[in-house]
Amino acid sequence: MPLLSELGLSVPIVAAPMAGGPTTPELVVAADRAGGIGFLAAGYLSAEALKTKIGAVRRQTSHLGVNLFAPNPVPVDRTAYRAYRERLRADADRLGVVLPEDPVEDDDGWRDKVDLLTDAPVPVVSFTFGVAERAVLDALHAVGSVLVQTVTSADEARLAEAAGVDALAVQSSAAGGHWGTLTPSEPPSSHAGLGRLLAEVSASSELPIIAAGGIADAATVRAALTAGSAAVAVGTVLMLSPEAGTSDTHRAALSAGDRITVVTRAFSGRPARGLRNAFIDRYDAVAPLGYPALHHLTSPVRRAAAAAGDPELVHLWAGTGYRAATTDPAETIMRQLAAQL
Ligand SMILES: Cc1cc2nc3c(=O)[nH]c(=O)nc-3n(C[C@H](O)[C@H](O)[C@H](O)COP(=O)(O)O)c2cc1C
Repeated sequence: MPLLSELGLSVPIVAAPMAGGPTTPELVVAADRAGGIGFLAAGYLSAEALKTKIGAVRRQTSHLGVNLFAPNPVPVDRTAYRAYRERLRADADRLGVVLPEDPVEDDDGWRDKVDLLTDAPVPVVSFTFGVAERAVLDALHAVGSVLVQTVTSADEARLAEAAGVDALAVQSSAAGGHWGTLTPSEPPSSHAGLGRLLAEVSASSELPIIAAGGIADAATVRAALTAGSAAVAVGTVLMLSPEAGTSDTHRAALSAGDRITVVTRAFSGRPARGLRNAFIDRYDAVAPLGYPALHHLTSPVRRAAAAAGDPELVHLWAGTGYRAATTDPAETIMRQLAAQL
């Protein structure tokens, strides 16, 4: 498979990017040791912080990917923002935090991070949420990076291929964390299982595929490869490993195994899958769309709840396979996932 050699994989397993803490340089290094590759998650980090993390990986291996949130804003309706802010006020007051008065519509430091990756290239760069403009793809190609685009439907796969990326991360809605849909206001209608999604995408695009979403055991890895993907990406199943930076509150909720996972936009204004808790029960039905404004709006509540060890008011991202996560070292988990290949 050309993708495997392009990505330098002896085992076709990728440690998927997990922004907000779970991905650490140690996790990325462990993925490399397992014969796969790990992606640092640049989301929510400044370019400076990203540079530090890349440096930490590079002290042990130069084999890594970096994942970026590509700008694809969904500006929030201001009236809806104010109404949602009002709804959140009681929880914010109780936790003693102040919610941003006006919507924050930033681009997650996009330009600075692209500049960093063109000045100090990494072997692989992946994008989620949006498709980067041609000049950015050209600049990253010119410094030798392999480019991967997250897509959630056959239509998005066609768009990504036309844009000029080298491979697709095909993510089903079983995935933990944000769904990388390019159209969060109209996400793909089918919550198709990964198998069907892979069949639809391979029928529409020639690009090699990294399959993601709900993959948590060796049989599912094998099924995804049999269905035509060149590699798989796993996130949730690594979240309890010692190398992951998952918070104690999040670890405890995952380990308990007693919650269902649901897709909600209540935390960030974009669909994302996590363990159901009081925040989702209270706000899912009333949350407007609006990314990144809702991410910034709810952030003070989530931070305070996490600091207090309260799992009910914090996002507990998890894919549908979260009960298969173990506290084994990440290298062991990845090798076990490859056991039936
Ligand atoms: C905590 C968490 C954070 C995530 N952050 C990102 C991210 O920053 N960028 C991204 O492209 N995908 C992100 N994802 C999605 C993963 O990269 C991947 O698609 C997903 O974990 C695969 O499904 P699984 O969780 O069922 O293994 C995140 C997932 C989780 C669980």
